[in-house]
Amino acid sequence: MADKAKMIVDPSFRIAEIDRRMYGSFIEHLGRAVYTGIYQPGHPAADEDGFRRDVMELVRELGVPIVRYPGGNFVSNFFWEDSVGPKESRRPRLDLAWRTLESNQFGIDEFQKWCRRTDSEVMMAVNLGTRGTADALNLLEYCNLDTGTAYARMRRENGHPEPYRIRTWCMGNEMDGPWQVGHKPAAEYGRLAAETAKAMKLMDDSLEFVICGSSNIMMPTFPEWERITLEEAYDYIDYVSLHQYYGNDEGDTADFLANTLDLETFIHTIECTIDYVRAKRRSKKQVNLSFDEWNVWYHSMQKDNEKMTREPWDLHPPLLEDHYTFEDALLVGLILITFLRHADRIRIACLAQLVNVIAPIMTEENGNAWRQTIFYPFLQVSKYGRGYALECPLTSGKHDTSKHTDVTDIDATAVYNEEKGEVTIFAVNRSMTETVDFSADLRAFGDGLVLDEHTEMAGFPVDAVNSAENDRAVAPKKTAEHSFENGELTAQLRPLSWNVIHFSGYSADVARASHLPCGQS
Ligand code: AHR
Repeated sequence: MADKAKMIVDPSFRIAEIDRRMYGSFIEHLGRAVYTGIYQPGHPAADEDGFRRDVMELVRELGVPIVRYPGGNFVSNFFWEDSVGPKESRRPRLDLAWRTLESNQFGIDEFQKWCRRTDSEVMMAVNLGTRGTADALNLLEYCNLDTGTAYARMRRENGHPEPYRIRTWCMGNEMDGPWQVGHKPAAEYGRLAAETAKAMKLMDDSLEFVICGSSNIMMPTFPEWERITLEEAYDYIDYVSLHQYYGNDEGDTADFLANTLDLETFIHTIECTIDYVRAKRRSKKQVNLSFDEWNVWYHSMQKDNEKMTREPWDLHPPLLEDHYTFEDALLVGLILITFLRHADRIRIACLAQLVNVIAPIMTEENGNAWRQTIFYPFLQVSKYGRGYALECPLTSGKHDTSKHTDVTDIDATAVYNEEKGEVTIFAVNRSMTETVDFSADLRAFGDGLVLDEHTEMAGFPVDAVNSAENDRAVAPKKTAEHSFENGELTAQLRPLSWNVIHFSGYSADVARASHLPCGQS
C-alpha cells in the first residue's frame, strides 16, 4: 500500500500570474511540419491560401498563443528574403541542418497570415549562424516598420500594407551546439547577440529578446555558457532560452518519469546564474526564462540519423515523426506541472514542435489530421492553467529509480483563475503499481466551491498510442474516484495516471464571509 499524499491549495499562496505564452509551440522548416503539415495546397481541407483547416482547428483547440518560427537549426542558414514575394520567383535552397531541399513556397508572410488564423502570435528567430546584425535589421524592417525604406516598402509591395508588429525575437538558435551551422564560443556569441539586440531596439524599442542558453543540461559548457553570454548581453536581452528533450531508450518507465527532477535542477541553475550576473552588474533588471523547446524526442531519432546520411536531398521528407505513447503523455504532464511551479520566471515555453515533427498534431498527407497522446495533457493545462500558479505544499511517499533518488509518487500543483472563480489541480501518480490516496485541503476557498470534473488518463499499457483512425484511444476520461466535502478533496489516483480535477464557483466574498467568526458580517 502506497503512502497517502496531501496537498494544501490556498488562493493567497501565489507564485505568479501565468504568462499566456507558457503554452506556446514551435514550427520549424523541418520534415513535414510546414509542407503537408500546416500548408498543403490542393488538400481537400486546404483553404484559399493552402493552409490545412483540419490542422488549424486542432491548433485552435490547443489554444497556442505564440509560435516560434522558422527554426530551430534551420534558422542558422536561413535567407529570409528568398521566402517572400511572388511564389514563382522564389529561390529554392539547400537546408544544411536537415539535409533537405527548401522550396521557399511558404515563408515569412504566409506564417504571419497562418498565425492570425490560428489566434497565435509570431515569435521570430533571426539567423546569427551564417548571417548577423545587418540581416536581422533588414528582417525587422520588413516585418515591423512602416517607413518609406527598402524593406518596409518590399513588404507593402508584396501585398502586406500593415506592419506585423512582432514583439518577441530569438537571437539565433542553440548557438552553444557544435552541430549548429555558425556555432560560436560563448563570448563571441554574447557580443553578437548584444549588438544585434541593441541595434534592433534602435529600430523598434518595444521588442523583447531571447538569448540562446544551453541546448540541454548535459552540454559541457552548461552553465558557464549562460554566465559568459549574459555578462556580454544582460542589458539588452529579456529572456534566456532553455531547451530539453527526454527519451526512454532503455524502456525504464519509472526512471523516465523521474526526469523532471533533472528539469527542476536545470531551471533552478539557470535562474541562479541569471541572478548571479544581475547581482554582479548591480542591475535592477530581471531577466526571465523562455523554455522554447521541450518535449519527448527519441522514438524516431536513430532512423532519422541514418536516413539523413543515406538518402539524397529531398523536399520535406518525413523526419522526427515520433509516435507518442501513454508514458510520454505522463511525462508531458509532469513537465507542465514543473513549469507552473516556476511561473514567476518561465514567461514563455514552446512545446516542440506543433505539427508532424515531434508533435501533438499529426497529418496524413492524403487524409486527416489527428491527436497524439501528448495532445491531451497539453490541451488540459493550456485550457485550465490560466490565472495564478499556486504554491502548494505537498507531502507524498517517495521511491528510488535506476538513476534518481527520492522521487515523489505524486507530483501535483494547482492553478487559480480569479476571473472565472475556478481552481484546477493537476496531478500525476508516478507509482507503477499503487493507487495513492490523495487529499487536498481547499478550505481557504470557503463555501461555494464545487467539484465540476475529475478526468484521468490511466489504465493504458505504457506503450499505447493513438492513430489517424482513432485519436481518442489514449485520452482523458471522467472518473468518480473522489469525494469533496467541506473543502476537503479525497481522490484515488491510479498507478501511472494523469489527473485533472476542476472546481468552480469560487467567490472571494463568499470565502471571506465563510471565514468570519459567527455573527460577524
Ligand atoms: O526541434 C528539433 C531541433 O531540436 C531544433 O531544430 C533544434 O533547435 C533542437 O536541437
